[in-house]
Amino acid sequence: MQLTIFNGSPRGKKSNSSIIIEHFIKGCEEAGKVDYKVHIVKQLKKAEDLHKIYKTSEVVLVVFPLYVDSMPAMMKEFFEWLEPFVGKKGLPKLGFIIHSGFGEAIHSFFLRDYLDKIGPEISSEYLGTMIKPSTEGMAIQTSGMVKKKMRTIRDLAAAFIQSGKFDPVIMEKSAKPIKYNAFAKVIIRLIKGLGFLDFYWNYLLKKNGAKDMHDARPYA
Ligand SMILES: Cc1cc2nc3c(=O)[nH]c(=O)nc-3n(C[C@H](O)[C@H](O)[C@H](O)COP(=O)(O)O)c2cc1C
Repeated sequence: MQLTIFNGSPRGKKSNSSIIIEHFIKGCEEAGKVDYKVHIVKQLKKAEDLHKIYKTSEVVLVVFPLYVDSMPAMMKEFFEWLEPFVGKKGLPKLGFIIHSGFGEAIHSFFLRDYLDKIGPEISSEYLGTMIKPSTEGMAIQTSGMVKKKMRTIRDLAAAFIQSGKFDPVIMEKSAKPIKYNAFAKVIIRLIKGLGFLDFYWNYLLKKNGAKDMHDARPYA
């Protein structure tokens, strides 16, 4: 199988999308042989760059993060660039993995609805959209923690190599929890009260020399 993967993170190669792609490929290789190529969306300069890749692909997987309850702006442009393919013959199969910083899958439901609508219009077969919550901070987590979190990604890939489909049971398992239950909310409040919830964001602010600007309101 020839697989074309697009990484739609504005962070490019150094992103959580890259980690997800890495695990998807591992899952494919656990199940069989796959010939793949990864493209970084932010490196595509014009619509023709995308058209050339898209029309010669057999299967396309697009991985990108949730941004402000929707998609990064460059992904909107990516879909606009694909408009000439709507309803055309000889298109690739197409599937998506969308992921979010927040831990509840419900945040990604509107974006999945959008992809469920346009996916069939720009493909020969729409494989579906997998939601993966809680992906922020993987870069500072242990490899064991990341491997556990990425289990459903590898399972989806392995099942895909065997059946040519995205397994709906694995996709449902990945999109959990839909919302936190009362117990989880108590634990989160506790962690927040102890100041641990802000740990990663404070780390990023410090790393970017922006610790003293965390209250800045440039558009206010
Ligand atoms: C500008 C911006 C907006 C974001 N908006 C959301 C959001 O609305 N909901 C959410 O759950 N996560 C949001 N996130 C978190 C990202 O989805 C999350 O960090 C993801 O793992 C980033 O993936 P990447 O490293 O592949 O870009 C946002 C992140 C950024 C930088």
